[in-house]
Amino acid sequence: MEQITQRITQNLEHLKQYTATPGNGCTRLPFSKEARSAVNYLRDLMIEAGLRVKEDEAGNIFGVLDGEDPSLPCVMSGSHYDSVVHGGDYDGIAGVIVALETARLLKKCGQKFKRNFVVAGFNDEEGMRFGTGYFGSGAMLGLRTPEYCRKFRDKDGISIYDAMKSYGLDPEKVEKAKWKDGSIGHFIETHIEQGPVLDTHNIEIGLVTGIVGLHRYMFTVHGRADHAGTTPMDMRLDAVDVASKVISKIADWAREKGDGTVATVGYMNVLPGGINIVAEKVEFSVDIRSLNMANIEDIAAKIQAALTEETAKIGSTFDKETKLVIQPVALSEKMLTILEKSTQAHQFSYKRLPSGAGHDSLEIGQKIPTVMIFVPSKDGRSHTPVEHTDYPYFAKAAMLQKELAEQLLSE
Ligand code: GLV
Ligand code: MN
Ligand code: MN
Repeated sequence: MEQITQRITQNLEHLKQYTATPGNGCTRLPFSKEARSAVNYLRDLMIEAGLRVKEDEAGNIFGVLDGEDPSLPCVMSGSHYDSVVHGGDYDGIAGVIVALETARLLKKCGQKFKRNFVVAGFNDEEGMRFGTGYFGSGAMLGLRTPEYCRKFRDKDGISIYDAMKSYGLDPEKVEKAKWKDGSIGHFIETHIEQGPVLDTHNIEIGLVTGIVGLHRYMFTVHGRADHAGTTPMDMRLDAVDVASKVISKIADWAREKGDGTVATVGYMNVLPGGINIVAEKVEFSVDIRSLNMANIEDIAAKIQAALTEETAKIGSTFDKETKLVIQPVALSEKMLTILEKSTQAHQFSYKRLPSGAGHDSLEIGQKIPTVMIFVPSKDGRSHTPVEHTDYPYFAKAAMLQKELAEQLLSE
């Protein structure tokens, strides 16, 4: 156990340097030089572990531990290597390293398994840069096209398409990242919990039963730039006035739903952005999540109706860009049961719980039997530089993954 912890620690400590904001959290945006450095390091680790490395047209990296019959559906494990801006050092990347450790443990036991075991490092799970999400895992499932890449842009107006080109990828070939239907049999992801349940109750392992559905939008309210002093209140088209009236209701609409439903406006941009100029334009993002899709749809409809009403009152308009719509997913009971037995055998404390965070498993679990293991996040903090998880938890997760993979690889 100590050796496993040591290897994982060493790998994750090394990866901490690949951030655009040293000393202020992990900022590893997709198609950046930090992403490239992390992928290069993962490639070296995979080769060192004796895996066959494949990098694909979407920026994902895979390491394959060959089984006896590569034509059988493989067992895949992994997570994402990108991060949010000023995020933590473990969100995503820890799951890649735990998967890699799983491969090392499988290899070390000297047995040749029937199926391939594949370690995956996915690109752009967060959707931080383009407001989307699950770009790499979606590409693996055949859900990304050149049109998709052209459609979504970052805050500087750079499309996924152009970002890929500057990174050395050909967006016209993104569909080639698709894995053949039926070639992935099971998917396993370890991730930090990013919430307070495990840490608060001193529980070592979370067995994830399901993941919330998600809608993401970017709204633009159009107003008219005018002089802040001379334009009477009833003669202005104030985009901030309209947007703020609607934004101020969104959190309450989520609270009214209960059921763990959450809604977040995490980005706002006022243009031209002058203290003495009536706002010509307000852009704001909305992220709505729930295990109950009807709750999400209802809040989305309320936002649409309120914006329609408020803009009509002053004769202005708004646009809505849908960035992501994804259904909630139930994780594999078969794999949860195997994990539960292993967890009990090791006498790790554990709890079954749902995930409020999105994960590659949300995208993958729509099509492929999937399971997730959570490990505690100190004080439940994540998407902030203070995010922390003690390394021995990752070693425990790697052991559980190895035992689960052993069974699945021999089926
Ligand atoms: C990713 O961490 C997300 O849930 O947004
Ligand atoms: Mn995240
Ligand atoms: Mn994550």
